[in-house]
Order: sequence, then structure tokens, then C-alpha cells
Amino acid sequence: MRSHRAQEQRVTINTNDLVRTLDSLRDEGLQALESADTEERLEAWRVAYFGRRDGKLTLAMRQLGSLSAEARPAAGVAANRVKTALEQGLEQRQAAVKRLALERLAREQRLDVTMPGRPVPLGRLHPTTQMLREILAAFTSMGFQVVEGPEVEWDKYNFELLNIPKGHPARDMWDTLWIDETHANGERPMLLRTHTSPMQARVMEQTRPPVRVVVPGKVYRYENTDATHEWHFHQVEGLAVDEGITFANLKGTLYEFARRIFGPERRVRFRCDYFPFVEPGVDMSMDCFICKGEGSVGSGGRSVPCRVCKETGWIEIMGAGMVHPRVLGMVGYDPQRYTGFAFGLGVERIAMLKHGIDDIRHFYANDVRFLRQF
Ligand code: FA5
Repeated sequence: MRSHRAQEQRVTINTNDLVRTLDSLRDEGLQALESADTEERLEAWRVAYFGRRDGKLTLAMRQLGSLSAEARPAAGVAANRVKTALEQGLEQRQAAVKRLALERLAREQRLDVTMPGRPVPLGRLHPTTQMLREILAAFTSMGFQVVEGPEVEWDKYNFELLNIPKGHPARDMWDTLWIDETHANGERPMLLRTHTSPMQARVMEQTRPPVRVVVPGKVYRYENTDATHEWHFHQVEGLAVDEGITFANLKGTLYEFARRIFGPERRVRFRCDYFPFVEPGVDMSMDCFICKGEGSVGSGGRSVPCRVCKETGWIEIMGAGMVHPRVLGMVGYDPQRYTGFAFGLGVERIAMLKHGIDDIRHFYANDVRFLRQF
């Protein structure tokens, strides 16, 4: 009985001691804060009181553990109150020191610290991407679905299933970049696709009619560059196959596309053209935006030939035609039952016509003075 009372006595004394220690820590700490007038001094103060190993408050709080279970709650409340007071004191002092530092900076350097900061330059979409999205929006609103395919392609899809067998002279229409991978028989069947048309066969292999797809993507050609030719550029392929599709559907779709992108005033022209995977085949051109379809710019003796349309007054934007029955047959479609049309347009050429860009090489020259205009 006596020893229990003695123990209670000792605990009471320890609790009071601890609370007194904590109170004086708070008073001493808050006073010390007032003379901390730089960020470095504030940090030193924080370590002195809150430091994880031997901060004054940390050490005091650690003593809570040695109190009896009955004494701990009251001492804990007192300790938390002191901790909060010191934390709030530190926050207020930090804000004041920051304000003082800015004022000092303004005095010393004559800076207007209230001036808004320099804006971080925001990026934007490349003109090709913007044009691509506009073209796809025009076709998807007419019911076409967007699909994509590989840029490294097999000879089979890029040529053979498009009715261009090995050795066919039409292969010369596409200057091809071949991949250095040879088969045992010496053939190099892999290439960088020269157009988006390989996706015609890939899509038809996977689905049954009705088919209505557009295929955006990058294509590559081993070609000299000039004002309207790049060695890598973008195309959008279109393919529609169903029962009863006619050439009138092809023309109607492409007229509507041109009207949506360029408005009703611009003129378009269809001419017969040859592509082995369509019959009949056409190319579609728009009137040249530089010479307004005249073939030359300037007047009288000072007129010069238009180099953009090469004096023709027209710029070709796409090849198109009715899908060749042999192409339908090769993917297992019955050409007696189904017909279709296909087209492949050059995205940069359309952007040139739309924005009046006089040289396709600007697109990938990475000159921000050009890119910033879109
Ligand atoms: C083709 O690539 C065919 N696959 C198009 C096609 C698809 C025809 C479906 C019939 C049916 P062509 O090589 O003409 O065709 O290219 C199509 C379009 O790509 C051209 O009209 C032009 O707008 C663009 N183009 C062609 N070569 C270049 C080049 N070097 N630089 C930029 N654009 C080009």
C-alpha cells in the first residue's frame, strides 16, 4: 500500500516536471523564432526543436512514453498544444521572412516583384496533325471509320495484293525504300510503305462488307524533293466496299470532302489516271492557289512561270478509282457481288492549298517561324 502511494507521488512529480519543461520550451522557442530572420536561421531553428534525433521538442515528447498510463493523456494534451504553438509560430515566421526577403530584393535590385512572371511558351499541334484531324473529321462525319496500319510493310501488302506482282513495271511508280532484311532466296520482302493503300487488303482480310474506312499515316519514298515533293509525307487512304457502289458515289464523296475543306468556290478536276489496283482510275486536282489556275504569276512582260503547279494551274491532291475486281478477288470478296471505291490523298498537299504554303519542305524543316503561324 505504501509503495503504491510512493509510486503515484513520483509519477505526479514527473508529469508536472514534463509539463513545465514543455511550457518553457514553447516560451523559449517562440522567443528564439523572433530573431530568426533568414531562411537558413529558420531551418536551424526547425532542426533545434523538431529535429528527428535530438530536437528539443522531440526529446521532451519522447519522455511521454515513460509516464504511467493514467498520467500520459493529460501530459500528451499539453505536449500537443506546445507542438501546435511552435509549428504555427514557425509558419508565421516563414511567411514573414519570405515577405522581408522579397522587399529586400525589391529595394536592392529595383525589381517590381508584383509583376506577373514570364509566360511559359505553350506548344501547339504541328500543321500536318491539324490538317490530318480536319480531313478525318470530314470523312468520319460521312460515316467512315478510322483505322491505322504499320509503316514497315511487306511487299505482299504494299504491292502484290494491290495487283502489282513482282517485276511489274508499275512498281516504278513508287520509288521504294527497302529494308535490309533478305530472305534465304535473296529477296527483300520488307519495305517502308510507299502509300497507305496496303491497308486496303489488310482491312478487307479482316472484315466483310460493308466496309467504309479511312487510314491516316506516314509514307516514305526514295524521291528527290522539290516544292511539292517530300521523301516522307502523310496520306489518308479511303476505302468503301459494298453491294451497288458506283463511280457516282466516289465523285459525290470527294466533291463533298473538297467542299468541306476548301469551301464551295474552289475548283476541282478529275482526270483519268492509272493505278493497277483501281479500274477506272482518276486523279483529283485543285486549282493552284499561287497562280489562281493561270500557270504563271505577275502580268504582261513581268509574268513568271508558277513553280508550285509547274505552270499547269492545278495541284494534284489524290489518286482514286473503283477497286479492281482482281483486288477484291485476292482477299476473298466476290467481285460479281461487291464493288467499291478507293482514294489516297496527300495531307501536306492539302495543307499547302488550304494555307497558301509555297514549299512542302517547310513542314519538316523544324523552323519555328514557320510552325508558329498555325
Ligand atoms: C498513291 O499513292 C495511291 N496509293 C493513291 C490511290 C489510292 C490511288 C487508292 C487509287 C486508289 P500517288 O503516288 O499519286 O498515289 O500519291 C497520292 C497523293 O499523295 C498525291 O496525289 C499527292 O497528293 C501525294 N503525294 C505523292 N507523292 C508525294 C510526295 N513526294 N510528297 C508529298 N505528297 C505526295
